[in-house]
Amino acid sequence: MKVGNNTFYYQYEPSLLDSLEAQEIQAPYNCRAGYCGRCKVRLLTGEVKYLDEGMVDLKEEEILTCICVPKTHIEIEIPED
Ligand code: FES
Repeated sequence: MKVGNNTFYYQYEPSLLDSLEAQEIQAPYNCRAGYCGRCKVRLLTGEVKYLDEGMVDLKEEEILTCICVPKTHIEIEIPED
């Protein structure tokens, strides 16, 4: 997976958020369950698979990292606070 200018390997963690954290990539979160929308990032390329149904309205290119895993190589953009 690619985050900004850096490429990482998806580690088989329970979620994309967990994998980002395992690789010490700063990623926002709060509820970790698809309710708050805090973990929203932009999916620039690739596909993800949802493990749960989120309760947040998302734009077409947005994903919730706490409830999905990559299906393909992905490139994401994490919003700056
Ligand atoms: S951390 Fe709340 S929706 Fe992902």
